[in-house]
Amino acid sequence: MKILVTGGAGYIGSHTVRVLRLRGHEPVIFDNLTRGHREAALDAPLIVGDLLSLDDLTGALRTTGSEAVLHFAAFTYVGESVGHPDVYYRNNTAGTMNLLEAMRKHKVSKLVFSSTAAVYGDPIRTPIDESHPQSPVNPYGRSKLMVEWMLRDHQVAFGLGFAALRYFNAAGASLDGRIGEDHDPETHLIPRVLMSITGEIPEVTILGTDWETPDGTCIRDYIHVEDLAQAHVLALEHLGRGGASNAWNLGTGKGHSVKEVIQSAERVSHRKVPTVSGARRAGDPGVLVASSDKIRKDLGWKPEHADLDSIVGSAWRWIEKGGRYKNKATPEEAQTTHPIR
Ligand code: UFG
Repeated sequence: MKILVTGGAGYIGSHTVRVLRLRGHEPVIFDNLTRGHREAALDAPLIVGDLLSLDDLTGALRTTGSEAVLHFAAFTYVGESVGHPDVYYRNNTAGTMNLLEAMRKHKVSKLVFSSTAAVYGDPIRTPIDESHPQSPVNPYGRSKLMVEWMLRDHQVAFGLGFAALRYFNAAGASLDGRIGEDHDPETHLIPRVLMSITGEIPEVTILGTDWETPDGTCIRDYIHVEDLAQAHVLALEHLGRGGASNAWNLGTGKGHSVKEVIQSAERVSHRKVPTVSGARRAGDPGVLVASSDKIRKDLGWKPEHADLDSIVGSAWRWIEKGGRYKNKATPEEAQTTHPIR
């Protein structure tokens, strides 16, 4: 299939583009490069465009003749969303409105959407399955839940076929170490633990040691970015076969504490992680673990790199090789490699 991949120069999008190409699909990346990286696109065709421009989107769909869209482009910092909800609703929610309008105009009726565990809010039971109440506790989660509602309404009104994939904690890097996670600022646990090993930051702060968990630290369900990428391709092909629209969780079903992540990093790097104990981070739930039974059953997905050392080990290899993209694109440098006609 010919596919437009919004946010395809970002962390999860760039890994998915590689898997799409290996499977014989023809992805074209659509990214404004404000948070994505030109280098992460590797040699995939790239349109530099903005979700907030209907012209950019319609031009991209027209030029590429796309039959489906994988929609990763979004802002994803919970903390930032609390201070700047306007930016999150505009970029994540209104931007997706534009995308849906452009898709309708070009009769593109299949969409795989990056949703998040944040649509559930504070868990009332664990593991979390898809029927868990959706009560997000921050603007980021609400900006994504609103999109899920929009997708359902567009399905009813316009026959949109969609897959909403609710990621738990995306982690790791490509197995060949060519692409990986590079956020600025970096707030995520695994990259910060590894940055403390290389000396990029003096130490990692354990955000709360008084949680009601066996070792007192927060538990999360870390899922390898390569397994996430595979799930997108399965969801796309499901829609391509005319499969039913749905929302699916993506996690491994196994939780790991902050301390276990730190121990894993010490095992894979053979180095000591400097740590300090700090206060809980506002808005953090103590335990977030997915039930991914539904996507296993419906789409035959299963994580291939589920053990923590594989996930942390791939992230460590990426960090060891430099772990940062060199080209931070400025607007002047942001040139499209797939001209819009
Ligand atoms: N943590 C630390 N020290 C750090 C960073 C994180 O102890 O320096 C802890 C956090 O408190 C949390 C765990 O490590 O318990 C994981 O934190 P991350 O920041 O890596 O990930 P989150 O679970 O906060 O965020 C993830 C996704 C978000 C999504 C959110 C939904 O990255 O996009 O889950 O709850 F919104």
